[in-house]
Amino acid sequence: MQQKDVALEVVNASKAFAGIQAVAGVTLAVPAGQRRGIIGPNGAGKTTLFNLITGTLAMDAGTITLFGRDVSRRPVHHRANLGLGRTYQITNLFLDLSVEENLVLAANPRKLPDFFAPWRSQRSVRARAGDVAEQVALGDKLDTPVRDLSHGEQRQLELGMALAPQPRLIMMDEPAAGLSGTERHHIMALISRLDRSITILLVEHNMEVLLGLTDVVTVMHQGQIIAEDTPAAISQEKTVQDIYMGTLDA
Ligand SMILES: Nc1ncnc2c1ncn2[C@@H]1O[C@H](COP(=O)(O)OP(=O)(O)OP(=O)(O)O)[C@@H](O)[C@H]1O
Ligand SMILES: [Mg+2]
Repeated sequence: MQQKDVALEVVNASKAFAGIQAVAGVTLAVPAGQRRGIIGPNGAGKTTLFNLITGTLAMDAGTITLFGRDVSRRPVHHRANLGLGRTYQITNLFLDLSVEENLVLAANPRKLPDFFAPWRSQRSVRARAGDVAEQVALGDKLDTPVRDLSHGEQRQLELGMALAPQPRLIMMDEPAAGLSGTERHHIMALISRLDRSITILLVEHNMEVLLGLTDVVTVMHQGQIIAEDTPAAISQEKTVQDIYMGTLDA
């Protein structure tokens, strides 16, 4: 595989918190365009690994390469500028602003201080906000204040906020957590319909969801990668079943 075909390469990444080795020498490579699932029991280190990749947390050791560039010691915004996006948590939405205003802000994350008045007239930015709203099934809610959206719709908007800056690699940490069955199904369908050129890293506990959505699944346990294969093969793995049945220590 040529370097430019690799969206993300993590080599020997480690991170400890007060004696807990949350991520313990993780190495993985995700080819551009791949949809990669990450599973593992609570405390396996999935979110910590995500934070190391986005740059929210500094690594103790290891290297991270994004689209061929070493970003190991680069800040969050540098990685974002290279095309790395992640879903926002609900607290990052501006509840009093409309869906469109939130998407416009997300499309221009580095221009926040200017605030958005001048951009409301910028047709290209508003058009993009409209496109993204369509992609996350909120096309008819552009003028709705975020606080009037349902919980499921707010999650759809979080996905839209991550898509607005047009990322090449998008990372989602349990995007359907806390949603009802129908809402879950809806957000997963939206994710599955995303442009195939966008590389996806998705933390998700439900193996059935991963079966339909991902090309490869990585299994984490106690800060390490213990398996990596197609979702079909992973769901048959004895070790993985043991972990989820609780017969291995989490
Ligand atoms: N900021 C922190 N300070 C101290 N310990 C932390 C911190 N963040 C994570 N940990 C610890 O690191 C380990 C890995 O946590 P992490 O949140 O990455 O797991 P996870 O796989 O995302 O779990 P879950 O499925 O519950 O979301 C856990 O033991 C956790 O308690
Ligand atoms: Mg987590």
